[in-house]
Amino acid sequence: MKRKILISALILSIAGSGCTTSKSEWHSYSGDKTIEHKVDSVLSLMTLEEKIGQMTQFSSHGDITGPIVNEDIEPYLKKGLIGSIFNAVTVEGIRKLQEQALAESRLKIPVLFGYDVVHGFKTIFPIPLAESCSWDLYQIKKSAAIAAEEASAAGIAWTFAPMIDIVRDARWGRVMEGAGEDTYLGALIAEAKVKGFQGNHWKDLYNTNTILACAKHFCAYGAAESGRDYNTVDVSDRTLREVYFPPFKAAKDAGVATFMTAFNEISGIPCTASKYLFRDVLKDEWQFNGFVVTDYTAINELVPHGVAQDEEQAAELAVNAGVDMDMTGGVYLHNLKTLVEEGKVSENTIDNAVRRILEMKFILGLFDDPYRYLDEKREKETILKPEFLQAAREIGNRSIVLLKNNNQFFPITKDRQLTVALIGPMVKNRTSMNGEWSARGNKNESASLFDGLTEKYKNTNIKFLYAEGCDLKEPGTEGFAEAINIARKADIIIAAMGEDYNWSGEAASRSNIKLPGSQQKLLKELKKTGKPIGLVLMNGRPLDLSWEDKNIDAIMEAWYLGTMAGHSIADVIVGDYNPSAKLTMSFPRNAGQLPIYYNRKNTGRPLPEDNPKMDYRSSYLDVENSPLYPFGYGLSYTTFQYSKPSISSGILTKNGELKVSVTITNTGNYDGEEIVQLYIQDVTASVTRPIKELKGFQKLNIKKGESVTADFIIREKDLGFLRLDNTWGTEPGEYKVFVGNDSENVQELKFSLVE
Ligand code: GLC
Repeated sequence: MKRKILISALILSIAGSGCTTSKSEWHSYSGDKTIEHKVDSVLSLMTLEEKIGQMTQFSSHGDITGPIVNEDIEPYLKKGLIGSIFNAVTVEGIRKLQEQALAESRLKIPVLFGYDVVHGFKTIFPIPLAESCSWDLYQIKKSAAIAAEEASAAGIAWTFAPMIDIVRDARWGRVMEGAGEDTYLGALIAEAKVKGFQGNHWKDLYNTNTILACAKHFCAYGAAESGRDYNTVDVSDRTLREVYFPPFKAAKDAGVATFMTAFNEISGIPCTASKYLFRDVLKDEWQFNGFVVTDYTAINELVPHGVAQDEEQAAELAVNAGVDMDMTGGVYLHNLKTLVEEGKVSENTIDNAVRRILEMKFILGLFDDPYRYLDEKREKETILKPEFLQAAREIGNRSIVLLKNNNQFFPITKDRQLTVALIGPMVKNRTSMNGEWSARGNKNESASLFDGLTEKYKNTNIKFLYAEGCDLKEPGTEGFAEAINIARKADIIIAAMGEDYNWSGEAASRSNIKLPGSQQKLLKELKKTGKPIGLVLMNGRPLDLSWEDKNIDAIMEAWYLGTMAGHSIADVIVGDYNPSAKLTMSFPRNAGQLPIYYNRKNTGRPLPEDNPKMDYRSSYLDVENSPLYPFGYGLSYTTFQYSKPSISSGILTKNGELKVSVTITNTGNYDGEEIVQLYIQDVTASVTRPIKELKGFQKLNIKKGESVTADFIIREKDLGFLRLDNTWGTEPGEYKVFVGNDSENVQELKFSLVE
């Protein structure tokens, strides 16, 4: 203890000496003058090499328990030339690295440890796309806070999350990591995640159970052409500002400490070299004062992108674009000094990047005590707490979307006498339940569907038969006979199918989004037995379920729900939890419709509502335009009846407000939750506008037989958009309001906005 206080006291005593460098235009994240002073004081002591070292991040090799594994970074670490390390994931390993950094470096500036804590650290929560279908901002914030609790107990002070890319193309594997296709909901979820990880105020970051968050990937990574990861993005500034920016602006407004650059280009300029994105928009227009880290070797990739002839030019482009830290590319470390000496990069640019990084280390308290996150006792006591597992189970319940339920196939209540055939490669699968980006979650310990069902139904008259039937990926049919045999002996079939967890996530794009292998072929054989079939899906993207929707009695989208997956699903199957989730990403009828999203434009040749087959209209010869399951869609075990909605006036003035009310009655046999949604259309404007945009929702608990009225307030500020003259604001005219239980099943009202 004495040693570490000595080190940080040394830094602070020097820091307190009052010498500062020119601040130029630096605006601190905290706005705290004392912190600003300390940052400037430390900066004034640093050599150019040491400054560049702070802008350098390297990856360690995971769970370091033995001697430091990264012989390649050790020399730099000892010279204080590494500002951050990621992928070190235990107190012991991080302590070893921190000690090396502090023991021999001149200024003993603490290293910042980061990691991809995306949907849990040890207790794994549903993948973000699943969680977003809960529309439950409280639960979403809570899961981030628990992830921060566990990760910080392992010594990690920074997560590369939330991923808040808007996604409209299910071929792209990283849809599993985001919050779906809607900008309004995506922005709310971004805020919830940032505050979950960081707390509600920057001072909360001093607490050792909060961690820096990272808004990624800035920007429009999800708009990759053909849904192919890392592919070209070409979207207009209008689309950027109306669709892709808002969740990032919401993250910034929520106080997110860091941003991450996206791998892709936007209209000819790779994000990592984009002054427009990182200086003009992020740091100047939005006044973001945290720091920007690249994605993994993204600066190096400016060379293959074709905008840099070598890594020296790549470094020049990135740092002058406002990118502060180089993730594991080593490009800043090996080139910035030369660039400064050549006058291609000013030392002021370096100083401002370093100030942003140093400030975060002061805010986290690392200068007070570089080991303050490192407590082996806390590390052991904090992970996988029962209350964390219960939280994962509950958000899992709320993430399951009931897509079809003919003849009330579900729930399968305990009081029944039944033989159930459990068939499919996902029945006993544990390793896929965590999905991708599952940090330190133990894939072999997550609850399978079989685990959940056998526990849920023990001591009942529900008997299970089991057959895997087919592989999750391979096309073989050798398991079919056994599956059909047990199906014939059963009263009903629960088929559990989906995608292997690494068929979504990074570098996991698919051109064909049907069930992989021979899973659908097995379903066709099972259908021939004539037994009712309930299909439970575990996958990381919207799938092409056109055949299943026509031929299977019930379909439940269970995604990857994490450590408690099987128990969350069993809670819903038995009826202990009545499913309430609603899709945040449209399910297409086939991959040919992609990208598909509800808030589309009308075009000059729209299909009339009553004539989906009209010639010379924007349509296909071989499929409808509409998705199989639309944004906002999800069934319940009960039924909800909507009254005719009312609107307080047909006129909205600039400073006025309108109230839209609708009464929902639970007309079924189960208490349930209904997510009632409000959409608005600007019918005529100076630019084309989406046919509808989500502008409000309420998740209502309604007991059977009960009625609840939902009121929505509409104000002029809710109607803003990027007008023809590129100013943000509204225009008078006619608006439509839609109220309903998904983006298609709505009732319409009208109003006019007047000057
Ligand atoms: C990856 C991902 C990024 C992640 C980073 C560090 O390539 O694109 O989201 O945070 O590398 O693992």
